Amino acid sequence: MQTIAFTNQKGGVGKTTSAVTLAAAAAERGVDVLVVDLDSQGSATELLGPDAPPAAGVADVIGTGPDERGRDVPPARWSDVVLTAREPGDVAPGSGRVDLLPATDMLVASEEHLYSTGDLWAVGAVVSGIRKTGRYGLCVLDCPPAVSRLSVNAVAGADLVVAPATLSSMTIRGIERLHQLVEVVRDDLGEAPRVLYLPCAVDARYSETRRLLSEFEGAFGEYPGGDLLPAVRTSSAAGLAFARRQTAVEYQPDGRLAQDYRAVLGVLAENGAVHLPATAPLA
Ligand SMILES: Nc1ncnc2c1ncn2[C@@H]1O[C@H](COP(=O)(O)OP(=O)(O)O)[C@@H](O)[C@H]1O
Ligand SMILES: [Mg+2]
Repeated sequence: MQTIAFTNQKGGVGKTTSAVTLAAAAAERGVDVLVVDLDSQGSATELLGPDAPPAAGVADVIGTGPDERGRDVPPARWSDVVLTAREPGDVAPGSGRVDLLPATDMLVASEEHLYSTGDLWAVGAVVSGIRKTGRYGLCVLDCPPAVSRLSVNAVAGADLVVAPATLSSMTIRGIERLHQLVEVVRDDLGEAPRVLYLPCAVDARYSETRRLLSEFEGAFGEYPGGDLLPAVRTSSAAGLAFARRQTAVEYQPDGRLAQDYRAVLGVLAENGAVHLPATAPLA
């Protein structure tokens, strides 16, 4: 099981869209996927989860610290909290399952708890326990829009960090802050995952956008030699799919949003960052 953290301290840059659409694209290729929603705003949970907000979530597995009376609350088991988001075959014929460790308001308590304990490996411990079960081929972590303890924990627990960003939001300062987050992990744990950048909602009709994109290509270099993943184009399918609580792969399988995330999955798979099951030979 490979684990990818989608993180960027900025909000509204495509983290959740990228996490759930890449998850669906992998499921479409037969991978069993787990989505972990670490953002208390719960967008991924709203999209993938049940109609009613779940009573328990990933916060209870990570730990939420002592309750109001100061009593320690034992962490929940992930297998007691995990939900089925998509059954095998739901995303597309032959697709893998998509499970969800949902977000709840208790993530606010987890954040405080991680801050007070200084623990960087709380999410990593959950992820490594799940990896041992062999149940999933891919785990995606959808992070909150902040340099938070949950985000640092997600980076620590991930094999790869993908930082979705709109071109206008990709400032030098933003990139430096992201690298600081990774350095916190490296200082503490001795190693840290690679960070790749994913330009999102790119509208190449504008010459300024094309100029920015080629500037970033020059600065980062294209993956795998460099750190820039193929851009995801702007598409109204992002919002429309969300409104229907579908991923773009389900909402508009032939649309450009689905295609672009399949392309991102493809280059990650070609370079071993995601393992796809061997496709059956054509008859
Ligand atoms: N490729 C895209 N084209 C157009 N709109 C997009 C695209 N990706 C995301 N969006 C929209 O941008 C907004 C923020 O995206 P979201 O994935 O929720 O960002 P984040 O998780 O970083 O806050 C949402 O309304 C989403 O529908
Ligand atoms: Mg989000």
